[in-house]
Formats: sequence, structure tokens, C-alpha cells
Amino acid sequence: MSSDLPTHQGGDLTRTTVPRPCVLVILGAAGDLALRKLFPALYNLECDGLLPEPFTVVGFARRTIDDEAFRAIVLEGMQKHSRRAPEAAAWERFAKRIHYAEGSFEDAAAFAGLRNRIEAIEGESGIASERIFYLSIPPTSIVACVQGLAAAGLLAARHEGQAGARIIIEKPIGRDLAGAQAINDAVAREIHESRIFRIDHYLGKETVQNILVLRFANSIFEPLWNQKYIDHIQITVAEKEGVGTRAGYYEEAGALRDMVQNHILQVLCLVAMEPPWSLAPEVVRDHKMGVLNCLRPIRGGDVERNVIRAQYGVGKLGEKEVPGYRREDRVRPDSTTETFVAIRAFIDNWRWAGVPFYIRTGKSLPSRVSEVAIRFKEAPPVLFHAGVLRPIEPNVLVLRIQPDEGLALSIACKQPGGRVEIQRVEMDFQYDSAFQQSSPEAYERLLLDVMAGDATLFMRRDAVEASWSWVGGILDGWEGGGARWLPEYAAGSWGPVEADRLIAEDGRAWRVP
Ligand code: BG6
Repeated sequence: MSSDLPTHQGGDLTRTTVPRPCVLVILGAAGDLALRKLFPALYNLECDGLLPEPFTVVGFARRTIDDEAFRAIVLEGMQKHSRRAPEAAAWERFAKRIHYAEGSFEDAAAFAGLRNRIEAIEGESGIASERIFYLSIPPTSIVACVQGLAAAGLLAARHEGQAGARIIIEKPIGRDLAGAQAINDAVAREIHESRIFRIDHYLGKETVQNILVLRFANSIFEPLWNQKYIDHIQITVAEKEGVGTRAGYYEEAGALRDMVQNHILQVLCLVAMEPPWSLAPEVVRDHKMGVLNCLRPIRGGDVERNVIRAQYGVGKLGEKEVPGYRREDRVRPDSTTETFVAIRAFIDNWRWAGVPFYIRTGKSLPSRVSEVAIRFKEAPPVLFHAGVLRPIEPNVLVLRIQPDEGLALSIACKQPGGRVEIQRVEMDFQYDSAFQQSSPEAYERLLLDVMAGDATLFMRRDAVEASWSWVGGILDGWEGGGARWLPEYAAGSWGPVEADRLIAEDGRAWRVP
């Protein structure tokens, strides 16, 4: 198999992504992700006039229904989850693009049927469109599904000079390094790496993309972006929701696998990477790998010293009583799955030597907030800083990923008046008010990028495996810990006291977002 996408030269974050005519097949089209995120994202692209022409989406799922019935299901999902409520004319245009094919991932005949359906659609338009397969399916079905597509001839190039199909794979890819490698190996036997788009929806968020712009389109931050000026960095991804209806998956995953292995490490890479020499996908992805390669392993006895895991117990979120995790639907009453994790990590390279990266994520926390807080070193202890009784808080730059997307820089200022009283004030930039428009959903940008063949914002195999390798050291440490003792935190609190101690040991404290 050859690499047939121009990803080395083709992508560029600054370029307008130009999607090519395509047939997008969503496998698992009646599932939660498809109905909550994928169809609404496509509908919003329709409203913005960004879909290519022609564009068709084929839903593939087990249910025996026809196109019309499937469109009704999609519309219902859209009414609940789309950032724009469906509007008659746009919906009518969009609905015409939606088709349905029935089938199971284990059934070769179903894939042959799918091929016939796609060929019929392509025949009508008379255009050799791109084929994209979105595997919105349980991770255990990925390999069978890719093999089924390949056996039905759906992944191969159809015309001289044309690329084969692209596939989009959702996380989690495996539960550990060996599992991820097995999936990646099996998939690689059927389709070239350049046509595999491993999605991490955090990379599609406006504010996450803005990290690179902030760092490399301004001249004031980069000179300070290193161990000489930065005291430490905190990455927080807090969720207010508990496990909800996803216990079946979450019980086997836990916070470390669910959030750190992918989203948080990806954000960390963008914050910590060296300046890439170009914005081409492979260059950006190589530089992110540079961070993962320098992430100090946390293994054995280091796990207990640097990682806190915990589970939420009974508590209150506002006025709402929250049952403890173990009493949630489909959770084992003696579950030891962590719903919170806090980590002290280090990146052992010239730029970041000695700078701790404190990471925390959890469910049933007081608010939904994702942010990166960069805490600069204190000013020299002279002049305004000389009095020990009046410490001046150091500058903090906060990149708010969600909600209230934006950034804030705290600085010390003189309070008006005859005496020199110093106060911390915030320079605050908010996307909403600055640009007067709501940000597109992450999936809108990412789907468009796949249609254009731009892999910059997708995870390459080596990054997925390097992340698993790092997370695996922690998982092994927990396994080795025998009984897996697990602290509890009250739902609605900021996590267990052990997490506060982790950072307090270093003379620091978690920010209250
Ligand atoms: C998913 C996790 O990848 O990300 C979920 O599996 C989590 O557990 C979700 O709730 C968070 O995404 P967002 O975009 O709401 O921050």
C-alpha cells in the first residue's frame, strides 16, 4: 500500500480547508455519538455552506428501517443537540443527503450491500467522490469492521491516480499499549497510515487550536515560555456530570484512560512543544511527539508519589443530590474505577527541566471547566516585592478551553490612591464578545478536515502508542499496588484532599477556576 494523500505538503492550519466531494459512511449511525455530535455537526456545515458538492452521508446500523425513518431519527437528535435548531429549508436540503443501509459489522454480505448502495449513489452523481468511513462503533469492533470494509473492496483506490478511502477512528484505541498496538497493526494491514484519521475531539476545539496561534503568532509569549520564567503549569479538565449512562464503558476505562491518555496529553503537547518549522501535518505531529518522548515515565514507587486516583462518593451539585459512583446505574457496588486523577508530571528537556505540570481531571466536580493555567515565576524580591507581609501574586496566564472560551492574564497593578497598594487585575479576552459569534463544534472542523485530507489535527499512530506507554506505567503501578485503595471525594467538591496534598508538598495550590 502506498501513501497517497499529500499530507506532507497538503495541510496547513492557516489554510482554508477545502473539502472534496465525498460519500461519508457512518458505521454505528444510530448510536449516541452519531446522533448527538456527528449529524448535528454535518447539519451546521450545511447551514454554513461548507459541505462539498456532491456530499452524501450514509448511515449504517443494525436496525431495519428505511431512509425516511432514519432521517426522522436524525432530526430528533438534531432538535436536542444541534447548536442551531433545525430550520425548515436547511433541514430539507440536508435530509436529501441522508441515506440508510442496514447491516452488522460481522456480516460480509452487509458490507457487499453497503458497497452496492455507495456505488448507486456515486453513479447518480457521476462524480468519483472520496469515500470516508467513520467508525462510530465500540472499540472491540474496529478491527472486524475495517477487515469487512477491505474485504468488500471498499477501502481500495478505484481509479488511476485516486487515493483509496479514508477511515476515521474514535478513541479509545485499546485499553493499554499492547491492545492499541494490536489494533493499529491489524488496521495497518488493510489501510495506509496516511488514510487513517484518529480523532481526538479536543483538537477540534477552537481554543485548543488557538494554543498554537497564541504561542507562535505573538512575539511576547514565546521568549517567556520556558523553565526560566514559568514556575509551573496546571491543566484542569473538570466535568460537572457524573458517569451518566456510560457506566458500561467507563467502568472499564476510568479517568486516566478516558481523559488523560488522549485529550489531556494532546493539550499538553500543544502547550509544551517546540516551535514547528512549518504547519504541515507531519511537522506539527513530529513536534508533538517530541514532547511525548520527553515525558518522564512515572512507574513503580513514583506512581504513589506523583499520582492520586479517587472516586466520587455521595454529594451535592448545587441543590441536586448525587449518589456515589458505586450507586450509579450499571456500576459494580465494589468498583475501584477512578473518576478523578491528579498527576505531577515533568518534561525532561531543555525548555521544561524542573517545571511541574500538574494535571487533574474528574467527574462530579463543582463545575464544567477545561483550562491551562501558566503560572510565571515571582518578580525578584525587591521594590514592591520586598515586604514579606504583602506578597504579590505572580502572573498567571489562563487559556480557557471551555466554557467561556478565551484567555486571561493576571497582572499586578497599583490601586488608585495616595499610597502604593498593589492589586491583582485581569486582562480578559472572551471569544464570544470579541468575535460575536459562537464557535463551531469540534466535530465540524474535524469532519471538514477529513473531507479535505488534512491530518494535522488527528493523532498519529506513534503518538497514540507513546501516550499509552506513559499512561501504562501508571496503570501498572496501580495494579502492583494490590488492593487498589482508592480515596473518595464528595460529589460537587474539587477532588480528594490527597490531590491538594500532592501539590501542597511543592508549596503550591490548585487554582480555583
Ligand atoms: C470524552 C470522554 O472523550 O470526552 C467523556 O469519553 C467526557 O467521558 C468527554 O465526558 C468530555 O468532552 P467535552 O468536549 O464535553 O469536554
